[in-house]
Amino acid sequence: MSAHAISAQAKIIALEKTSAAVRAENFLLDDLGFYRENSMFLKRGCLTRNRDKFMSAYSSKPDLKLYSPLISIVENYPRYSAGKLARRRRENIMKRAFIALLLTVVAAAVSLPAFAQDYAAIVAAPDRSDADRTTDKRRDPLKLLTFTGVREGMRVLDMEANARYTTELLARAVGSNGVVYAQDSAEVIERQVKDKFDIRAQKPVMKDVIHVIRNYDDPLPPDVRNLDLITFFFAYHDMTYMQVDRAEMNRKLFAALKPGGYLLIADHSARTGDGVSVGKTLHRIEEGVLRKEVEAAGFKFVAEGNFLRHPEDMRDVIVFRAPTPVDEFILKYQKPQ
Ligand SMILES: C[S@@+](CC[C@H](N)C(=O)[O-])C[C@H]1O[C@@H](n2cnc3c(N)ncnc32)[C@H](O)[C@@H]1O
Repeated sequence: MSAHAISAQAKIIALEKTSAAVRAENFLLDDLGFYRENSMFLKRGCLTRNRDKFMSAYSSKPDLKLYSPLISIVENYPRYSAGKLARRRRENIMKRAFIALLLTVVAAAVSLPAFAQDYAAIVAAPDRSDADRTTDKRRDPLKLLTFTGVREGMRVLDMEANARYTTELLARAVGSNGVVYAQDSAEVIERQVKDKFDIRAQKPVMKDVIHVIRNYDDPLPPDVRNLDLITFFFAYHDMTYMQVDRAEMNRKLFAALKPGGYLLIADHSARTGDGVSVGKTLHRIEEGVLRKEVEAAGFKFVAEGNFLRHPEDMRDVIVFRAPTPVDEFILKYQKPQ
């Protein structure tokens, strides 16, 4: 979470504590009023002698622990007139109304914009390229970003970042308090990416992206740990025809995430029975096989996104020349807490 969001949350917690403390004082004033009316503690000094008993009864109430001035109210009780107790109670009601108003203002004006992620604004950013907007037509980035849950300040690994279409969207979402590690193997850079990374890297929005040129089965330097999120979009199938130990890769991805962190995988669907045999020819992979491989590393399945599903796709043609939109699955996994 960003420093901005943390300070907003701290303000809300402080206000809630103040509100609870004022409420606690009112409970006490009510009780003192009750004792006064019932003449139980009218004799000066009686309450002080019973103070320990009184406070131990109250100390079990969490609200009262917050409010040390209560001790002085109890100790000074014999000097408080009934009128003073009532006045203090009225002041507290006003105080609580004011705090409630402040809470509303802080939540609305300070904290909410920090918590809510405006994915639509990210996708609509005027400095995105025309090429990326063309890719948007088959990727549905608004739904995809929403499904990832990427947030400002997160530390993210983007596997096989390639031309960095996804990396740039993630970089915009995490902002300057976050970081995106964009991974590619040297082989893929040489064969496919070429200068695409360097060209895109010149955009100001890419300044917090760290280019990581490493093999897929050892994708991060060992000191990069506790990631919030890993994205592996439309590239797991490529692992099936390169020299990649996929079981080791999945174990490394698992180790790199913090407990509770998420792995998001999207890929082009292959027919049942095709397994990993069509990775190179059709650029597809059988969903069930991929699921088994990922789950073997310890990831727990959380949800699937069905917004890029296309049952009309016969899944027997290479994705680049498919006559229909390509049937694609999106899976969300979590490293258990
Ligand atoms: C390896 S994949 C994924 C890379 C990266 N992880 C991402 O999310 O953008 C991207 C490659 O597929 C290529 N591609 C081109 N047309 C495509 C299509 N119709 N369907 C899928 N991929 C296509 C893109 O040009 C790009 O080189």
